[in-house]
Amino acid sequence: PKAQLLAGVKLMLTAGPTREALDPVRFISNHSSGKMGFALAAAAKQLGADVTLVSGPVTLITPVGVTRVNVESAAQMHAAVMQEIAQQHIFIACAAVADYAPKVVSEHKIKKTQRDEMIIELTKNPDIVAEVAALTSKPFTVGFAAETQDLAHYAQDKLKRKKLDMIAANNVAALGQGFNSDNNALTVFWPNGHTELPLADKHQLATHLITLIAEKYHDTHRA
Ligand code: PMT
Repeated sequence: PKAQLLAGVKLMLTAGPTREALDPVRFISNHSSGKMGFALAAAAKQLGADVTLVSGPVTLITPVGVTRVNVESAAQMHAAVMQEIAQQHIFIACAAVADYAPKVVSEHKIKKTQRDEMIIELTKNPDIVAEVAALTSKPFTVGFAAETQDLAHYAQDKLKRKKLDMIAANNVAALGQGFNSDNNALTVFWPNGHTELPLADKHQLATHLITLIAEKYHDTHRA
C-alpha cells in the first residue's frame, strides 16, 4: 500500500483558465487545459489528502474522491477560494488566472462599427495566491510561475513578492510542455533551495511535486 503522506490533510487547488466576459458572447481567456492542476489533485488524493479542486472551464473528468467547485471568472475563483480557505492546510495555485478583466461588461453584444480600431479598458483582478499567503493563519502556500524568459529570476521574484512557501516554475514558450501539453518540466523554488523536476508526463510530474510539497509541509510543522 502507498504511504499516506497526506492523510488527514486538507488541500485546496486552483486549476484551468479563467474567462473574463466582454459581453454575453465574448470573453478573454488563455490556453490552460487544467491537465497540470487535475493531475496534482489526483496525486494529492492518492497520498490521502482531503482535496478541493476549484476549476475554471475545462473538459476534464474530476479525479475520483476529489470535491470540485466550478467557476468561470477570476472574481468567482477568488470568492470560491476565500470561502473555504480557513479550513485548508495546503493551497496550490495552478490556475492560469487572468491578471486583468474588462472594466465594463456590456449587457448586450458589442456591435461592429465604422471604425477600424476598438479600445477595451481592463482593470486588475484580485491576486488569489498572494491574498491567501497574506492571511494571518495561512496554509502552506504553493504558487506556479508561467514564464517565457528569465525563468529563475521571475519565479524567485514571485516567491518573495507574494510571500509563498514554494513556487513551481515552467517555461511556457518551450515546445511540448506547459499550456495544454500532456508533458511538463518544472523548476521548484523555496526560500532556501530549489530542485529540477525534468520533462515528464503531467501525472508523473504531479506525483513528484506533491511528494515534495508534502515533505516541505511536514518540515515546517516539525520546525
Ligand atoms: O492547465 P495546463 O494546460 O495543464 O497548463 C499548466 C499551466 C502552464 C497553466 C501551469 O503549469 C501554470 O503555470 N499555472 C500558472 C499559470 C499562471 O497564471 O502563472 P502566472 O505566473 O501568471 O501567475 C503566478 C501565480 O499567481 C500562479 O500561481 C497563479 O495561479 C497565481 N495568480 C495569478 C493571478 C491572479 N489574479 N491570481 C492568482 O492566484
